[in-house]
Amino acid sequence: MFIAKRKNILGIEQINSAMQAQTSQPYKNIKKTYPSPHTNSYKTVKHAEIKPITLSTKKYHPPITMGEVDPAFIQEPEHRPRISYIEGKGVPLIDLAPILSSNNVSAIEFEGLVKEVGNACKDWGFFQVISHGVPLEKRQKIDGASRKFFAQSLEEKRKVRRNEKEVTGYFDAEHTKNVRDWKEVFDFTIEEPTIVPASHEPDDKEVTEWNNQWPEYPPELRETCQEYGQEMVKLAYKLLELIALSLDLPADRFHGFFKDQTSFMRVNHYPPCPTPEIALGVGRHKDAGALTILAQDDVGGLEVKRKTDGEWVRVKPTPDTYIINVGDIIQVWSNDRYESVEHRVMVNSERERFSLPFFFNPAHYTMVKPLEELTDEKNPAKYRTYNWGKFITTKKRSNFQKLNVENIQIYHFKISD
Ligand code: OGA
Ligand code: NI
Repeated sequence: MFIAKRKNILGIEQINSAMQAQTSQPYKNIKKTYPSPHTNSYKTVKHAEIKPITLSTKKYHPPITMGEVDPAFIQEPEHRPRISYIEGKGVPLIDLAPILSSNNVSAIEFEGLVKEVGNACKDWGFFQVISHGVPLEKRQKIDGASRKFFAQSLEEKRKVRRNEKEVTGYFDAEHTKNVRDWKEVFDFTIEEPTIVPASHEPDDKEVTEWNNQWPEYPPELRETCQEYGQEMVKLAYKLLELIALSLDLPADRFHGFFKDQTSFMRVNHYPPCPTPEIALGVGRHKDAGALTILAQDDVGGLEVKRKTDGEWVRVKPTPDTYIINVGDIIQVWSNDRYESVEHRVMVNSERERFSLPFFFNPAHYTMVKPLEELTDEKNPAKYRTYNWGKFITTKKRSNFQKLNVENIQIYHFKISD
């Protein structure tokens, strides 16, 4: 009961206890040079003592108050990263060459690939791919254009700021599990427009459009994003086929769900952080969609929770590879044969980091439930059916507004044994 009560007032309790733990730690009065997270100017400031906060009801917290870290960013002690980390020995690296060239691929080679993908999904929920067929030039172009976008002033970036009506564009105040992420993002959808429910209210049948907000500068951003997005869709379908085959399903078993897809892409910018010991670029979370394809730069920071022992392991950056992870929807479709695995992002005080996740999501009207082919009397469905559109609109709402309730999760639909 006490725990449940604590959860309901998460924002307040969490932060206060983080503050208490803070007082014994050596962050006080250190003279440091660091940037505010959303500008590119470096300032020398006195790193003053972190003060307990009074929780404001304002929707938007200013990112950093001069000389102190906004407590909204501070993680509970048990969720803080370890500065020395285990490098991700083990996140499997899979060569997709057999599906790229149609010539001379033996059945054995192909089956081997399907097995590798299946094992990676089962054992890790994560894998990396090489020979993926995405032209490097397209990745370099979106990388260059997004760096130009984020290098602008906050005022410029906020001209395309996400708001309660437009969920795409620039945003710098995302919260994961009610703690603010040390990042700024630019989001765009693949389908233009993307059709979604008008509200998260279960009985409201109305739909609305999500439209992209493209900035004036840099002018090439729009086209490079759109082109790169199409490459991601192509790769996502290939991966989905391999995953379907690995579950003994027809290769195109999942394709129908993506006809009016709600997929979106995000450009993440993680500025250097003066206190990487207590904040995270993205707090621990699972991806809610079907599949995520992530490109990370050479800085590193992504950590994956290893299934075998629950340790956080770092995914070492490897040039021109993509990191793939199974999302919650595949977990439900596969009735838990493949699990969506928790991950988070560490930041550092030296270098900014960029990453580009593509979230492959089905049509809003998709009713997500364990596939009949994968359930029977001995292995009954572990989840109740839920509507993807309502799920995502509920989630977006709480990521935008810091609500004092836990975010929607698939385990809310779990049928208890
Ligand atoms: C995400 C995510 C990882 C990264 O945006 O959901 O997990 O390395 N990002 O940026
Ligand atoms: Ni993620």
